[in-house]
Amino acid sequence: MTEQTLWPVIAIDGPSASGKGSVAELVAKAFGFHYLDSGALYRLLAYAAHTQSVAWSNESALADIAVKMDIRFESGEIYLNGEHVSAYIRTEQMGKGASEVAVHPQVRTALLQTQRNFRKSPGLVGDGRDIGSVIFPDAILKVFLTAGVETRAQRRYDQLINRGDRADYDTILDDLKQRDLRDTQRSSAPLIQLPDAMLVDTTKMNIAQAVDLIIEAYKKTTKIT
Ligand code: DC
Repeated sequence: MTEQTLWPVIAIDGPSASGKGSVAELVAKAFGFHYLDSGALYRLLAYAAHTQSVAWSNESALADIAVKMDIRFESGEIYLNGEHVSAYIRTEQMGKGASEVAVHPQVRTALLQTQRNFRKSPGLVGDGRDIGSVIFPDAILKVFLTAGVETRAQRRYDQLINRGDRADYDTILDDLKQRDLRDTQRSSAPLIQLPDAMLVDTTKMNIAQAVDLIIEAYKKTTKIT
């Protein structure tokens, strides 16, 4: 066992727009843990490829870019090779691109160690699709966070409108369905609900309630009072 594997991990996996990011960040804050937004890595790769005119289907070129990316997360902002790119990677286009680049096994291998390096003292909360299955199979607590696809589409629609973007509910719903299909049906590390994962369905639950459930489950698992 290396020193790194001693630090506890809470893995929160689930489909797009289920609220994983907000929930994971708050759980991390509650325990003073580090936070890994693994979807951001795939979004960064989609963005980097786009700026270099590399197709999202070009597996070997993507894997090459992935190992060379200089990624920095700082105070909630994301930098790629020194450039502040937070807003560029949060678009629907890069969400779609992330889902496309993520199907390639070579890409997933290239990003494996980058993700494992986030495991540091005193612990980590990671969110994504394969955090509990592939990246940290020894996570102390595994959560499958989901919500009905219509609820997720409505939340994504509200989010885009609130930040002043244009949005069309039906297009978002269709995109989410396609992304769900791609993320769950790919052969390499598909999104699955693991048998040992706790199911948190946020269709009728707010972020704070989901966070509380996970905090309580973690305390129970580790016998913290
Ligand atoms: O969590 P997100 O919506 O930012 O993720 C964008 C895409 O990245 C998602 O559709 C699939 C891919 N992804 C992945 O394959 N594995 C992860 N651990 C995280 C994201």
